[in-house]
Amino acid sequence: MSSDYNDCIQEQSAIIQDPGEFGDIQQLRELQYLHTSALRTLRLKFEVLNGEFQLHHARNPIHHIESILKSPASMAAKLQSRGHEVSIENAKQYLNDIAGVRVVCRFLEDVYDVEKAFMMQEDVKLIEREDYIAHPNFNGYRSLHLDVEIPVYLSSTIEYARAEIQIRTIAQDFWASLEHDLRYKCCKDIPEHISKEMYSVADEIAAIDRRMQHMNYEIQAL
Ligand code: GTP
Ligand code: MG
Repeated sequence: MSSDYNDCIQEQSAIIQDPGEFGDIQQLRELQYLHTSALRTLRLKFEVLNGEFQLHHARNPIHHIESILKSPASMAAKLQSRGHEVSIENAKQYLNDIAGVRVVCRFLEDVYDVEKAFMMQEDVKLIEREDYIAHPNFNGYRSLHLDVEIPVYLSSTIEYARAEIQIRTIAQDFWASLEHDLRYKCCKDIPEHISKEMYSVADEIAAIDRRMQHMNYEIQAL
């Protein structure tokens, strides 16, 4: 699980000096460049949608967008943990989250409005959808995950890159961010009573999200 999402997409492909288990530095740089480009394209898609909501409905459903490029070490670790050999081909084939985009929305309804507008786009192909808002994780984690594939237009070819899009509310993001911190600070197995507390806090946050959504509906209707 990764937490080092950040707001700026860096040219990380250019700074790789050691290909590690991937072997071929040029191929690894190309893989990273492809996914950095996908991150740029995806961010722009969400920014365009947010701007249009503002224009037509005088509201910004998206509070902020973060993005992350998986490091070669994390790619290698994930491939190995799933029993695959570490190679560029396997990274392309088995990892949906080399590129990750987190879209943090204001209200619950915004999550699904943004999803709908995004998924209508012809060049976005859905690979997998996991709705952890409708069906929270065992620990209370809530977020909508869309694994997608988009084209990246290069000088002489079109390459396809996959990305994991996480769409969630500010409140869900608050919980996920602190839960991640606590889990990393803690031991291997989180004590039972803390897990239960974490789940219960997630439930309370979900109730607050619903109340905020309700007030938003009422205010829109005034
Ligand atoms: P992937 O192939 O990695 O997508 O495996 P998966 O589909 O089993 O993972 P999933 O889509 O459930 O989770 C991927 C990402 O969601 C993680 O890297 C985290 O960023 C986030 N995530 C999932 N579960 C939790 C959770 O319990 N707590 C927090 N804080 N984040 C989570
Ligand atoms: Mg996933």
